[in-house]
Amino acid sequence: MSTIQFQLNGAAAAVEADPDQVLLDVLRSQLGVTSPHFGCGDGECGACHVMVDGRAMSSCDMPMWSVAGKDVVTVEGLGTAERPHPLQRALISEQAMQCGYCISGILISASALLQRNPSPTEAEVRTAFDRNLCRCGSHNRVVRAVLRAATEMAAP
Ligand code: FES
Repeated sequence: MSTIQFQLNGAAAAVEADPDQVLLDVLRSQLGVTSPHFGCGDGECGACHVMVDGRAMSSCDMPMWSVAGKDVVTVEGLGTAERPHPLQRALISEQAMQCGYCISGILISASALLQRNPSPTEAEVRTAFDRNLCRCGSHNRVVRAVLRAATEMAAP
């Protein structure tokens, strides 16, 4: 076990963990951060995506040793029920969620996209979701929601 320090949703975090333990387990079981979900466990489905230093990455296969000193953001750090992120409002407006299992990972991928590209094309949004699977088939509505949020965030 080692003490591993990093930033989590803008605050300092320190956990006692096996360096090879994966971030998803630490977030859910030790830190009570439950928005990232376990799906495939193999870096393929995106349900566990978190932002690490501004990039959407799978947390199911990310060892804790690689998280030390990094800036990690989960959906808990995007918005609240009282003050939702524009992406969260847009997903609701477009009724883009069905079962909701994948939506946290989708929010993280979308948020990372809009941070690096505030005015993406539809093709760029679709490319950003290359590693986010949605078995309900909500992708078209999700894409519309991201474009809606981008427009809202660009408004003066
Ligand atoms: Fe991590 Fe599928 S659970 S990518």
